[in-house]
Amino acid sequence: MKHLLKLLDLSKEEIVEILDLADKLKYQRKHGIPHPILEGKTLGMIFQKASTRTRVSFETGMYQLGGYPLFLSANDLQIGRGEPVQDTARVLSRYLDCIMIRTFAQKEVEDLAEYGSIPVINGLTDFCHPCQVLADLLTIREKKSSFEGLKMCYIGDGNNMANSLIVGGLKVGMEVAAACPKAYSPSQEVLDFANGCEGFTLTDNPMEAAVNADVLVTDVWSSMGMESEIEQRKIAFRGYQINDTVLGAAHSDAMVLHCLPAHREEEITEKVFEAHASEIFDEAENRLHAQKAVMVKLMMPDAE
Ligand code: CP
Ligand code: NVA
Repeated sequence: MKHLLKLLDLSKEEIVEILDLADKLKYQRKHGIPHPILEGKTLGMIFQKASTRTRVSFETGMYQLGGYPLFLSANDLQIGRGEPVQDTARVLSRYLDCIMIRTFAQKEVEDLAEYGSIPVINGLTDFCHPCQVLADLLTIREKKSSFEGLKMCYIGDGNNMANSLIVGGLKVGMEVAAACPKAYSPSQEVLDFANGCEGFTLTDNPMEAAVNADVLVTDVWSSMGMESEIEQRKIAFRGYQINDTVLGAAHSDAMVLHCLPAHREEEITEKVFEAHASEIFDEAENRLHAQKAVMVKLMMPDAE
């Protein structure tokens, strides 16, 4: 693995290796065992969109690994004034050991990887959110012991989270059912992959997708960058909510995950959110452990 640009690029084995290393780093962190594997390394973090979890978990994760995290707001970089990504990539490659970027276009992340000579990590684009879904998979495996025989149900917008959950879920062997309004389907590239896998279904009926689910996941109706569509989306997504009725169709021990930030009474009810808060906040914590594993795999592939 040279970069983490999207989960479509990873094999099942690579995903499982990241999760195994994340478990080990989590154990070390919980037991106060130092693990300065990335001593002397520097991570640049470019943010073109807001972030709480991604920024803090990467920054503190790099610190815990003995490395140095550098926060780079796009507003302050020349890239924000139009310096080409090709040049930014080549310059940053001379200073840093790895770049994490959160931006709009997937192409920008792919270009950074193509023109630079250091590993690039996708910290969210409009197309996908691979770091989040690695943390989600870690959380599912922690609670359910294995992925075998599990059904994951995603309800909501066919957005970056839907794209990564579908790919990640199918790659590790889960059944995946997605319920999205017809006009807000996941990306065609993802559907092409998913339709070639066993156990994928896409419907516009949340109740149908939730039947016998072991894991229910949702995300905001309007992602970052879609602020002008908020009112129109509130109408289009009415009914695409994880609530007691939807939960009733799933297995009685079903988990509920949400990448956060959550909009209560839109994609999830307050009641369901609070009833599953321990899972949701474990999921948020697992961003730290999963991303530390990704950084080690990319910057020190022979460590461990
Ligand atoms: N889930 C997630 O990526 O959160 P942030 O937007 O706060 O980074
Ligand atoms: N789909 C959301 C995820 C936020 C972590 C967004 O892109 O805003």
